Amino acid sequence: MEHLQTQGISLPRLGLGTFRLQGDACRAAVESALALGYRHIDTAEMYGNEDAIGAAIAASGVARKDLHATTKVWHENLAPDAIRRAFDASLKKLRLDHVDLYLVHWPAPNMNLPAMFEVLMRLKEQGRTRAIGVANFNIALLKTVVEEIKAPIACNQVEYHVMLDQTPLRKYLSSKAIPLVAYCPLAQGRAASDATLAAIGRKHGASAAQVALKWLLDQDGVAAIPKASRAESQRANLGALNVGLDDEDRQAIAALPKDRRCVNPGLAWD
Ligand SMILES: NC(=O)c1ccc[n+]([C@@H]2O[C@H](COP(=O)([O-])OP(=O)(O)OC[C@H]3O[C@@H](n4cnc5c(N)ncnc54)[C@H](OP(=O)(O)O)[C@@H]3O)[C@@H](O)[C@H]2O)c1
Repeated sequence: MEHLQTQGISLPRLGLGTFRLQGDACRAAVESALALGYRHIDTAEMYGNEDAIGAAIAASGVARKDLHATTKVWHENLAPDAIRRAFDASLKKLRLDHVDLYLVHWPAPNMNLPAMFEVLMRLKEQGRTRAIGVANFNIALLKTVVEEIKAPIACNQVEYHVMLDQTPLRKYLSSKAIPLVAYCPLAQGRAASDATLAAIGRKHGASAAQVALKWLLDQDGVAAIPKASRAESQRANLGALNVGLDDEDRQAIAALPKDRRCVNPGLAWD
């Protein structure tokens, strides 16, 4: 598995998303993914599944040093004390003594960015999270965090897939050597049934979903966290790393509609 080096951590470029997976189904999906070789698990306090993920990690026997765990603080908990409480609760549920990446999940209208990042940087200094980052931040918010506060942001996790253009954001992030972690990398499953991607896949003995993932992973500084509950899809998504796309394929993907946003982070993009 290829990794991205960012702010002292080594981030596996393909991870497992876990939104809408809960309870025993979540535990089974994460156990299956870890057994297949996934070493990057993405969760959030808002997903209500950190307990199940903690149980799966504990049962997996995977050495802690080989695992990358990301979790996130929800926008209702961005006051300094609330971040600390949310962080403690996440760590306890995950049964870990540190996470690898702690993200601000979503910007809030009344957030105090300097105060938030002071707490996040303290958690990093204490080794309770190895790195900090953001999700759903637009360029204006990123500029404040990166250029004014000078927080050591290890990524911006945003929606990105074959049907959504993120060129301006990608350019800004790459100018600062900050990885983009692509969420909804399969456009919430829509990419798997796209006729153009399926035709490209037929050329290479791959599926439409694998083509969509490889298109992302061919881009410098991009990681992807597809959610898959079934072992078969988890295995197929790992296999995307072996697909080879050519210029003709990339041209066909460039011609797909690029305005199909699945998630609207409101404030972040106004
Ligand atoms: N930071 C944020 O605000 C934010 C927002 C949204 C998502 N995320 C993160 O990003 C992750 C991924 O996004 P997402 O779950 O919304 O959407 P996604 O990963 O784009 O798509 C998930 C859907 O694709 C299906 N799928 C997976 N692999 C497949 C394959 N090989 N062939 C066919 N279908 C396949 C899954 O089916 P099954 O479920 O049946 O396996 C599921 O229905 C989330 O789980 C979460 O961790 C973060």
